[in-house]
Amino acid sequence: MMIQAFIFDLDGVVVDTAKYHYLAWKELAGELGFDFPEAEGERLKGVSRMDSLEIVLESGRITGLTAEEKKRLADRKNKSYLTYINRLDEREILPGILKFLKKIRAEGYKTALGSASKSGGMILQKLGIEDLFDVIVDGLSIVKAKPDPEVFLAAAAKLGADPGNCIVIEDAQAGVLAAQNGGMHCIGIGSEEILKGADVVLEHTGLLPNVNYRALF
Ligand code: BG6
Ligand code: MG
Repeated sequence: MMIQAFIFDLDGVVVDTAKYHYLAWKELAGELGFDFPEAEGERLKGVSRMDSLEIVLESGRITGLTAEEKKRLADRKNKSYLTYINRLDEREILPGILKFLKKIRAEGYKTALGSASKSGGMILQKLGIEDLFDVIVDGLSIVKAKPDPEVFLAAAAKLGADPGNCIVIEDAQAGVLAAQNGGMHCIGIGSEEILKGADVVLEHTGLLPNVNYRALF
């Protein structure tokens, strides 16, 4: 394979925001009168806002809400999530990410963001690192959520890269599946048990700069 591009997931890969998504959903669950345990938080990773809401409601055994009520709850969660994001700064960029981005760009590879989050582009701007990405595709410009490959295929198309020559970096089960569904290679970040299907799994992003990916792919 001839590597052309690296496509990065955002939450939990570039920046430590997965915890804020979880906290905001937990808050909402609390307001609705139930606890949303941390173990269940794993299921929210990579999943769109409305799909996440369904998971949270299911966990609290809440049924029978109208589409409008659901929209209001999702908006409420997002409002609280954005208060965390307002305070976000570059200290929350995950270890190794800046070094890795600069390294692969210096080596001539293209870089893209492929995030399900509607706040994806805004978060990169806030962190001042949008210039390290040739292309940004986030939840504002896609219709189908991961595990559908739309977000990654759109990023590859914008880069002019062949999906088979792209490496996706993902921390979520749904994201690894999306990469597979798009015919792309995938580096998982997190636990091997959860990220089955990734070509290689690293325990954390700090290990990225030392991976000999040319030998791997
Ligand atoms: C993904 C997160 O990146 O974005 C999910 O992993 C989140 O947890 C999804 O639900 C959508 O984010 P947002 O910001 O559009 O609600
Ligand atoms: Mg993620």
